[in-house]
Amino acid sequence: MSNKKQQPESQFTVLPAHVAIVMDGNGRWAKKRLMPRAAGHKAGVGALKYIIESASEAGVKCLTVFAFSSENWNRPEREVSILMDLFVSSIKKYLPELKQAGVSLRFIGDRSVFSEKLSASLLDAESATKDNTFLNLNIAMNYGGRWDIVEAAKNMLLDVESGSVSPANIEETLFSDYLSLADLPAVDLFIRTGGEHRISNFLLWQCAYSELYFTDVLWPDFNGDEFLKALQWFSSRQRRFGRTGEQLEEELQSLQTNEVK
Ligand code: IPE
Ligand code: IPE
Ligand code: MG
Repeated sequence: MSNKKQQPESQFTVLPAHVAIVMDGNGRWAKKRLMPRAAGHKAGVGALKYIIESASEAGVKCLTVFAFSSENWNRPEREVSILMDLFVSSIKKYLPELKQAGVSLRFIGDRSVFSEKLSASLLDAESATKDNTFLNLNIAMNYGGRWDIVEAAKNMLLDVESGSVSPANIEETLFSDYLSLADLPAVDLFIRTGGEHRISNFLLWQCAYSELYFTDVLWPDFNGDEFLKALQWFSSRQRRFGRTGEQLEEELQSLQTNEVK
């Protein structure tokens, strides 16, 4: 990963402010090669490294990836333990490069059940990269969208109890301040690899108006070109947010007329 000091010129007309990815398909990738599932997870970490580079190069400022869901504890104990070890070793391996590349790392999800070793490595990675601003990289681990919403509700209620929030003032923006990633823009582009068309309890609130991009490519095979394809597809979407297509076209025309003036 090279040290990038300047944001590159974007080749896209519209770039998502925030991209979220469900990195799915590691197990099937390994199975196709008659390899153990762990080999797929290892290859998946390699794919993530390249996608971080591609996102940075394209000018994406915020990337959130799903590494382990709250439901993934239902997997065989051995696979879970391999994944936990892989998190620790991958952070150790890539932290210097990420730091150098200007990536600010944050981990979202319930950490209370992680081993001391993993918890320490997450804290260390966050504190080592906290002053970086080139790319916000959020890694969701033991994360669930419902968990996020319930935690937010609990914390908001504590503020109601202490009197700093009045129930009459609770509205969407106030509530969303309690969620993970409250300081970041909503997810514009949601990508899921591996062929499934589901959200699997990822960022439920934050994806309320995301464009959803599904591809059959298995995560370890998802490369820079595939990522650019998703960005290209995103830039061709008309995001209406409840309005009509005609309204948007009129707006565009009047903007263009004002530019000419
Ligand atoms: C995603 O790949 C990685 C994690 C859930 C940790 P999978 O392991 O779900 O791969 P498939 O879906 O079995 O192919
Ligand atoms: C979602 O993938 C979680 C991650 C990619 C980490 P899964 O493969 O676990 O999702 P489901 O259970 O098949 O929906
Ligand atoms: Mg899967």
